[in-house]
Amino acid sequence: MIRKIQDQIQQLKKERDVTILAHCYQSADITEVADFVGDSYALAVAATKVKSSTVVMCGVRFMAEGVKLLCPDKRVLLSHKDAGCPMAEQFSPAEITAYKEAHPECTVVAYINTTAALKAVCDVCVTSSSAVKIVSALPGREILFIPDCNLGAYVAARVPDKQFTFMDGGCPIHGGVKKEEALAAMAAHPGAPLLVHPECSPEICDLADFVGSTTDIMKYAKESAASAFIIGTENSIVAHLRLQCPDKAFYPMSKGLICADMRLTTLPDVLDCILGGGEEITLDPDIAKKARRCIDEMIRLGG
Ligand code: 13P
Ligand code: SF4
Repeated sequence: MIRKIQDQIQQLKKERDVTILAHCYQSADITEVADFVGDSYALAVAATKVKSSTVVMCGVRFMAEGVKLLCPDKRVLLSHKDAGCPMAEQFSPAEITAYKEAHPECTVVAYINTTAALKAVCDVCVTSSSAVKIVSALPGREILFIPDCNLGAYVAARVPDKQFTFMDGGCPIHGGVKKEEALAAMAAHPGAPLLVHPECSPEICDLADFVGSTTDIMKYAKESAASAFIIGTENSIVAHLRLQCPDKAFYPMSKGLICADMRLTTLPDVLDCILGGGEEITLDPDIAKKARRCIDEMIRLGG
C-alpha cells in the first residue's frame, strides 16, 4: 500500500510540477518521496533553488512560511494544516518591538522556529546549525536572542565577545528532557557517545559528546567509528539512523522526545496536497517583505 502511494506521488510530482521538501524528522515513507531532505537551514537554502511552480513542505508551519518568504511567486503548501511548532508563537511582535525601542543598540536574533510576523520585527534569523557562525559575524555587541534560551545559551558559550539577553522560551520537547534521563541512558549504554540537539538544556549539552542540528547529529553518527550512540533529539532520528546504519546501534536519550506536530503529516496527506488539498500559505505582503530580510540576512551570513 505504501509503495503504491509513493509511486502515485512520484508520477504526479512530474505531471503537476511539484517539488517536495521534507524536514528530517519526517517519517521514512515521506523522506523517500521528497526531492530534498534536510535540517531547517538546508531546507531554507533548498527553497531558494526550487524550479517548480508548487512546493509541498513536509514539516511544520514556520518551515512552510519560510519557503513562501523565499519563493513568493510559487504555490506553497503545508503538508498538514495543524502542524505548528509551539515555540514559534511564544512571543508576540509587540513584545519584541517594545524591547527594541527600549534597547536601540540591540540586534534581535530570531531562531528560525518563529512565525513570519515575529521575524518581521527581528534583525536576522538563525538555525541550530548556523547560529554560532551568524551571531559571530554580527557587527553589534548586544544581542537579544529569541525564543529558545537553551539554543541561546549554547551560542553565548561559543561567542563570548557578545552580550546576550534571553527570554524564557524554548522547545517543550527537547527542553523537557531531564538531566536524570540523560544520565540513565548513559548508564544503560556505557561508552556510547551522547549526541544532542542544542534545544536541550545546557546541563544536558554539557554531558554530550557532540551537540548539533538534526542532520549534523546524523552525519556525526554515520562518520564516527563508534558502534553505538545515544540520540538526544526527536526519536524519528533514531529510526532513520537504524535504517541507514544497520550495523550500528542507536538508543533514544528519552522516550519523551516525540514531537506530535512533526508527526502529524502522513504519506496520504502528501498525496492529498498534490491532488489539490493541503493548506496553501499566504502572507501579508508587508510582513513578508520585512520577514524576508531576516532570512536573506541568515543565508548571506550563513554561507
Ligand atoms: P534543525 O535546525 O536541526 O532542523 O531543528 C529544527 C527543529 O525544529 C528541531 O526541533
Ligand atoms: Fe518545535 Fe520542538 Fe517540535 Fe522542533 S521538536 S518542531 S522545536 S516543538
